[in-house]
Amino acid sequence: MGSVTVGVLRERARGECRVALVPESLARLAPGGVRVLVEPGAGAAAWFADADYLAAGAELVPAAELLQRARVLLCVGPPDPATTAGLRPGTLLVGLLDVLRNPVTAGAWAEAGVTALSLDLLPRTLSRAQPMDALTSQANIAGYKAVLVAADTFTRFFPMLTTAAGTSKPAAVLVLGTGVAGLQAVATARRLGAVVTGYDVRPESREEVESLGARFLEIPAVPAVRTGVDGYAGRLAEAEQLAQQQALEEAVARADVVITTAQVPGGRPPVLVTARALDRMRPGSVVVDLAAGGSGGNVERSEPDATVVTAQGVTVIGAGHLPSAMAAAASTAYARNAEAMLTYLLHDGHDGHNDHDGGPTVDLSDEIQAAVVVTHAGSVVHPAVAALLDGRARLGGSR
Ligand code: NAI
Repeated sequence: MGSVTVGVLRERARGECRVALVPESLARLAPGGVRVLVEPGAGAAAWFADADYLAAGAELVPAAELLQRARVLLCVGPPDPATTAGLRPGTLLVGLLDVLRNPVTAGAWAEAGVTALSLDLLPRTLSRAQPMDALTSQANIAGYKAVLVAADTFTRFFPMLTTAAGTSKPAAVLVLGTGVAGLQAVATARRLGAVVTGYDVRPESREEVESLGARFLEIPAVPAVRTGVDGYAGRLAEAEQLAQQQALEEAVARADVVITTAQVPGGRPPVLVTARALDRMRPGSVVVDLAAGGSGGNVERSEPDATVVTAQGVTVIGAGHLPSAMAAAASTAYARNAEAMLTYLLHDGHDGHNDHDGGPTVDLSDEIQAAVVVTHAGSVVHPAVAALLDGRARLGGSR
């Protein structure tokens, strides 16, 4: 069997503490002929020491050399422009590349002759893709951590406690959007003893929320949204969104803690908690917005990676990057997803031929690869990304 050289750099994005492979990954990858190069310090922010990568069989090499030698570059987030400039043609780049939100970067990878594969485009309802589903592994961590962040900020108890000094009421926690992150938030808040309510537009959510011992919030004015073949909820019409916001206002006003998780792949997250709803909450209440990022959030006053206290005393936490706050667990889970994708590319997901270096060959007739491969052989091959780029080019031309 041939062998393939895989590189792992230190992530360059500000505040990013995760790393794409962990030392224990190496023992799982070695039998498949995978050699691993690691940039010194790559795992430090997630508490994985260079010595542990070395002991596991990795070679520690500086970034420039790593980019020259690696056939595959595994990363968590998209590489920065300097890294992209150093990629050699033919490199396979694998990560959560966020190309729907940032299609321009795909143009640069195509130009550099890089085959870019974005894990966030994975078909999530496909059972054989589940081991590679990094969005799920990271959302699960975000949902758990969101509850801990909320509990840490909330200045009362989550559980009902009876002591000689009296009895505390359990906290009322409302989780808006009960996909992967939301369900984990429901489960975690329940474990802490809170009284939990969940809400989602997908009809199958009710059963999932109730099976965790939480109440499901029914909003009759908003029809259940049918889930697309990709598993994602469709967008609400504007009038429905307004009705939803009004109906949620009552539930938000009653909650001590609200956790919001509703994303729209590549688009703006829906506003679920309006400024009016926030103003109706009791002082001391806490809102954690997991969707808070560059393209908005689920909460009208949330700011990305910042905590805002409203005039009414409601703490609003913009928490779009919680997996990085649990970098060791998040990296360990992410590495499993990256390993699964790599193994799939090398052994399972193609016609059985590796290239002459033993590296993976891309097979766009394979369902998983067709979904995740963004650039290949000098062009942007992903139709949705190509359409976004095309739209931008036309907008630029007409200006
Ligand atoms: P997400 O992070 O894109 O959104 C979180 C939740 O918010 C979703 O449940 C979504 O329905 C909900 N939401 C969106 N707009 C909303 C609105 N206006 N009001 C209220 N709720 C709203 O979703 P996530 O967690 O990444 O999952 C996406 C989909 O993929 C889900 O349907 C999930 O069940 C499915 N999935 C399926 C898997 C499988 O079949 N094995 C694995 C992982 C996810």
